[in-house]
Amino acid sequence: MITVNFETEINEKQAQEILSEIMADPMGGWASLPNNFDAGELARIKQAAAKIQEDSEVLVCIGIGGSYLGHRAIIEALRPKGVEIVYAGNSLSQRELLNALNEVGEKDFSVNVISKSGTTLEPALAFNVFKQKLVEKYGEEEAARRIYATTDAEKGTLHDEAVAKGYTRFVVPDNIGGRYSVLTAVGLLPLAAAGVDIDQLLLGAKEMAGNVQPMIQYGWMRYGLSKRGYDTEVFASFEPSTMYFNEWLKQLFGESEGKNRQGVFPASVIYSTDLHSLGQFMQDGRRNLWETIIDFPTDEMNMKVVEAVKRAHVAGGIPVLTLEVPSFDENGFGQLIYFFEMSCAISAKLMGVNPFDQPGVEAYKLELKKLLEAK
Ligand code: PA5
Repeated sequence: MITVNFETEINEKQAQEILSEIMADPMGGWASLPNNFDAGELARIKQAAAKIQEDSEVLVCIGIGGSYLGHRAIIEALRPKGVEIVYAGNSLSQRELLNALNEVGEKDFSVNVISKSGTTLEPALAFNVFKQKLVEKYGEEEAARRIYATTDAEKGTLHDEAVAKGYTRFVVPDNIGGRYSVLTAVGLLPLAAAGVDIDQLLLGAKEMAGNVQPMIQYGWMRYGLSKRGYDTEVFASFEPSTMYFNEWLKQLFGESEGKNRQGVFPASVIYSTDLHSLGQFMQDGRRNLWETIIDFPTDEMNMKVVEAVKRAHVAGGIPVLTLEVPSFDENGFGQLIYFFEMSCAISAKLMGVNPFDQPGVEAYKLELKKLLEAK
């Protein structure tokens, strides 16, 4: 189980109230998900993943933000041995889109288009391009059999098209927002196709859900540090393949807390690589930050670096928190996902903001829509 190396004073009554609020929140569906995952839905996900593995060398995963970062984080970290995953629709760069098309090349492929709203511009544009490639290669009917749409149960452009064309559909539940959705079909389908053991992932999350104390400690600690003027948290990992996990963390905390002029700015480093770039700042720069080390089991040499960094940074005046993760595998990442989702919801609640909306993201989407319509 994930353990934390610090203790802070908790208002137990308030903690219980916050936990109850999170569980009862109309957008808090993720909190009880690992404990009562729908067995039928899990079987459908596995069946679709098996079909993809049978008829495709590549699965093109189209999505952005919460519709992509979580599963990419785990796939990049664990490097499983299933179908190759090519990512598209997470920027508006034509170069990236061409790269993705070239990566697929002549290989057999399927597409998983993931968009809760079904209207986000980046994935919509990439989907059109890959759909055309599918139709050219396989014809209309087979193309439709190779498209998996993960979207709203009832509405949105993607939903309507999926129904009309008969794509295999998976639902992003109404009570789970994008950045909390990695343990729904949003993440589980690409993960299973890529060869990740999704049962173990869900089990890790379930085990963590049964042990809330470390999450309360961490949530409280973050809030306490932010009140004392620490406005930046640097997530530090010593495993280069966790770079996308850091990206997922930044979205989770940034979108959940960054409201009403509140929030801790989430930053990240990968050591020892970044000791040779950001190391100087961490050691001796402005003291407005703290460091949260995500400590995976590792080899002796890396362990020594972890210890050396802790000692040096504490001596340099940085609060250093350590989260010990029991294993670098599906179970460990399942625990981490739940740990951070719950701690983040707790600290956002302590800051007095809604952890589950993202008005700022919507604002940019609206402005872009206006500009495009004005053309
Ligand atoms: O967490 C969120 O809600 C956002 O980051 C969304 O995931 C992102 O904007 C993509 O939205 P959608 O899944 O509707 O395409």
